[in-house]
Amino acid sequence: MVRLFINGYGNIGRRLATAVLMDDEIKMVGVAKYSMDDKILEALDNDIDVYVPADKFDLFQQKGYKIAGTIDEACQRSDFILDASKEGGGFENKQKFYTPLKKPAIFQGGEDRYGPYSVADMIHNSRVNYDKASGKDYVIQGSCNVSGMGRLMQPLIEKYGNQIKRFDVTLVRRWADLEDSKEVKDSIEWDKNPHHQDDVKDFIPSANLFVDALKVPSRMMHVHQMLIRFDGKAPTRDSILEVFRGEFGVALLNSAKGTANVRNKAIELGFPHGDTQMAHIHQEVLRVQDDVVKIVYSDDQTGMVIPENYLLLQSMYFRRDRADAIKRADKLFQMTRKKKILEDEFK
Ligand SMILES: NC(=O)c1ccc[n+]([C@@H]2O[C@H](COP(=O)([O-])OP(=O)(O)OC[C@H]3O[C@@H](n4cnc5c(N)ncnc54)[C@H](OP(=O)(O)O)[C@@H]3O)[C@@H](O)[C@H]2O)c1
Repeated sequence: MVRLFINGYGNIGRRLATAVLMDDEIKMVGVAKYSMDDKILEALDNDIDVYVPADKFDLFQQKGYKIAGTIDEACQRSDFILDASKEGGGFENKQKFYTPLKKPAIFQGGEDRYGPYSVADMIHNSRVNYDKASGKDYVIQGSCNVSGMGRLMQPLIEKYGNQIKRFDVTLVRRWADLEDSKEVKDSIEWDKNPHHQDDVKDFIPSANLFVDALKVPSRMMHVHQMLIRFDGKAPTRDSILEVFRGEFGVALLNSAKGTANVRNKAIELGFPHGDTQMAHIHQEVLRVQDDVVKIVYSDDQTGMVIPENYLLLQSMYFRRDRADAIKRADKLFQMTRKKKILEDEFK
């Protein structure tokens, strides 16, 4: 049994809470809220205790919210923290609470791996370096795009090794999530220095990887293009597809019309939070030409990292082996069942 606190209750924190509540081995201490809005009532309706910063405690109470305590108290009552704070907030949380109280924590992909605001000395990807996280106190869970690249690159590297000369990835990222209130600008923006390249190279240092990232006015899902250049003739389309047939968290779709089609299907099918939690390879646009394979895949930004956080907890806190952890994650998140449903829906 682990007593767990989720520091942040936004897009990621809410989803982590849903997962944690399903697991008998985890005792949910509560979640942190920093703003007074209806998400507090959502948490309380789900029987989740809400903790707030000490300097806002009286204010929240005066407004009539039922608050269980301060964030400091929540950390003291916990064995482990899932930090789901707004991008970059994890560093201060670590300094203020986790390090002084000696509490281990998982940070999200918006935190720094290097430099003065670094929160951990590794980025986790369950397909690549699950074992390395075992027993560690602080680890960053790679962001959705970084998790997706790892899920695709690692099986290819295991199958083709030195035959692969390089990976060129163009990330086409959604502007905001469906639940975000922020405006979606009518613009396509580029990223001067996408962090995703360094993040992936943190756990696959040998990869010759070149990443570009664009942001487009959409809320549904990302869609990415990965070019894999081989030394000599590239493998056939069928052999590439075969690599991913049994992969955890990768679905092979054939008739989706676009990202909205996949997202709306997940909502229609009643998947929790409308998430598939997967990368979806779109087979009909998988092409091979001469020495290059082109894979187009969409990835469920909000959902992808939730089973990843759960797997990382299995490694850091429970020190379980990967096969056992995957079995547990599959039972909790129904990944194999959802993959089959999606593949049947989009065959
Ligand atoms: N959204 C995605 O698709 C996605 C995917 C993968 C990884 N990530 C990463 O996950 C992290 C969270 O992203 P998100 O989309 O969930 O953000 P979000 O929806 O903006 O939520 C951020 C949460 O942080 C809370 N917060 C504010 N100040 C804080 C502080 N000092 N310490 C802790 N929490 C604080 C906010 O509380 P209030 O609401 O009460 O103000 C809010 O609940 C980021 O690192 C992001 O890069 C996001």
